[in-house]
Amino acid sequence: MRSVYCGVLNASNIDQEVTLCGWVDRRRDHGGVIFIDLRDRDGIVQVVFDPDVEANFKMADKVRSEYVLQVTGKVRARSESTVNKNMATGEIEVYGTNLQILNTAETPPFQLDEHISVGEDVRLKYRYLDLRRQAMQTNLRFRSKVTNAIRNYLDDNGFLDIETPILTRATPEGARDYLVPSRTHDGKFFALPQSPQLFKQLLMVSGFDRYYQIAKCFRDEDLRADRQPEFTQIDIETSFMDEEQIMSVTEKMIRKLFSELKGVDLGEFPRMPFSEAIEKYGSDKPDMRIPLEMIEIKDLMKDVEFKVFSAPANDPKSRVTAMRVPKGGEIPRKKIDAYTKFVSIYGAKGLAYIKVNDKDDLENGLQSPIVKFLPAEVCRAILDRVGAENGDLIFFGADTHKVVTEALGALRCKLGEDLDLYTCEWAPLWVVDFPMFEELDGGALTALHHPFTAPSCSPEELRANPATALSRAYDMVLNGTELGGGSVRIHNQDMQQSVFEILGISEEEQREKFGFLLDALKFGAPPHGGLAFGLDRLIMLMTGSDSIRDVIAFPKTQSAACVMTDAPGAVDTKQLQELHIRLRTKTQAPA
Ligand code: AMO
Ligand code: AMP
Repeated sequence: MRSVYCGVLNASNIDQEVTLCGWVDRRRDHGGVIFIDLRDRDGIVQVVFDPDVEANFKMADKVRSEYVLQVTGKVRARSESTVNKNMATGEIEVYGTNLQILNTAETPPFQLDEHISVGEDVRLKYRYLDLRRQAMQTNLRFRSKVTNAIRNYLDDNGFLDIETPILTRATPEGARDYLVPSRTHDGKFFALPQSPQLFKQLLMVSGFDRYYQIAKCFRDEDLRADRQPEFTQIDIETSFMDEEQIMSVTEKMIRKLFSELKGVDLGEFPRMPFSEAIEKYGSDKPDMRIPLEMIEIKDLMKDVEFKVFSAPANDPKSRVTAMRVPKGGEIPRKKIDAYTKFVSIYGAKGLAYIKVNDKDDLENGLQSPIVKFLPAEVCRAILDRVGAENGDLIFFGADTHKVVTEALGALRCKLGEDLDLYTCEWAPLWVVDFPMFEELDGGALTALHHPFTAPSCSPEELRANPATALSRAYDMVLNGTELGGGSVRIHNQDMQQSVFEILGISEEEQREKFGFLLDALKFGAPPHGGLAFGLDRLIMLMTGSDSIRDVIAFPKTQSAACVMTDAPGAVDTKQLQELHIRLRTKTQAPA
């Protein structure tokens, strides 16, 4: 129906006859001449109808915003005074000679122009209209370019694209499962995959050697700007490659994407042990664009009279740290109070600070609610250790390890944003040397990555000191977002059973849930490992979007619903019966 897209027309097309198809972005009536801005996926072009061809003109008079048109006309130069430099096609216009209205449209529930701010619920309810907006078109086109480049890169490197099932058994990745009741097996359920983890490992046992999949994953977890219940992974698994080789091949892929699609050279990614990330930056995904770090001062506080500091300084499970904010002396008192409130979200009981007006005058040069409690030599030692300069502000955290780490880690990111402290645009890194396990509140251990991750020690050492054992896992972090993570896996049945035992999974449960994996490990499983990137997060960062919802065509809301299709929805009794399900009606709360 069309000969060319609207958005690609330019001066080189002058005098050509073209046929365009698209939507009416705007219609203006300029006393006898009608201008229609016609929009398609490539952009907008101005079409002019004058009364010379009466039938066309009459029809043009009838069109309204978002009508679907087919227009034939001649491309001509705009007069100098009407050239629009802000428009890609602004040097030309199309003189319309034929017009067909292919469809009419009701007035859209919101205006589609760029700068309009509409509530997200309305945008999501009419997502098909929201997606007509230029920003969304750009994001989804960019996403398509990225997946295409990924496929090319992985294909060039010998990876095979293999699909794995969606109706399957639970794959533990730390979230709740989405369950699907079985009609043919009374009382039984499929689980949607939280990731293709176990299947990709089995593909290695089968000898495919290098696998990838752009895979849908499902996790029923609390949602945030960078989390969706249904999201996409670039899932990768390899055999006979160690962590160095896996990190190298995947780092090259991300660097290539950035250089080809954004013209950005990310350089070689630095490595940071997990423990350093936590101690210095209070996060396992530190945003290295921010030049602030936490400095331990526990040893300086052991004997001070100020209990707020000395008590945690003498408790092995606590931390006392300082964080210097260069030129932070300008932060007003009111703002410090707001930051104190902010850290309380993480359980911090206060936020002590010192404003360094004159670092050489300990008596009058330090402005702070706490220096009166600290001996001069302690103040001097703090200033020296953090490298304080006049005009700086030093914040302090004293509490359990968890509270200080989380509170000052979050404050670090907030200060980075509020004071625009960023030193560069892109800060990628690998976080390595993760612990195998994490201690839950009751003392039980849980896998930090997932239970199929190989430890960097022998099974005996692992059993002797599980809490301190490190794993062969690695995460790729970009600008404070975890872009991807993976590990070298356990390929030996004994080791896998040791890990299950440490996790408190009984032999019976091991067989019931993971019998197929334990069996497969007995039949010549090769050493293998891999990684998965969050595709949505990658696109979010590359397009500078605030939320992954802006790079997913049909995302769910914060409460994991689709307001457009009204999913999840009720089902009729017959369907429930077939699925062997009886709903419990909600009992009325007693009055
Ligand atoms: P992991 O659970 O770390 O690892 O997930 C890999 C990457 O997927 C992205 N991601 C998400 N993106 C959007 N919404 C979510 N709810 C969500 N959850 C995770 C993140 C994350 O880094 N099987 C392992 C990988 C492996 O070991 O190979 C796994 O799934 O960017
Ligand atoms: P207080 O003696 O409770 O008035 O506290 C004196 C200063 O120490 C105030 O600036 C508090 O915000 C701060 N403060 C109190 N508890 C803590 C804590 N656990 N960590 C850091 N600063 C704290």
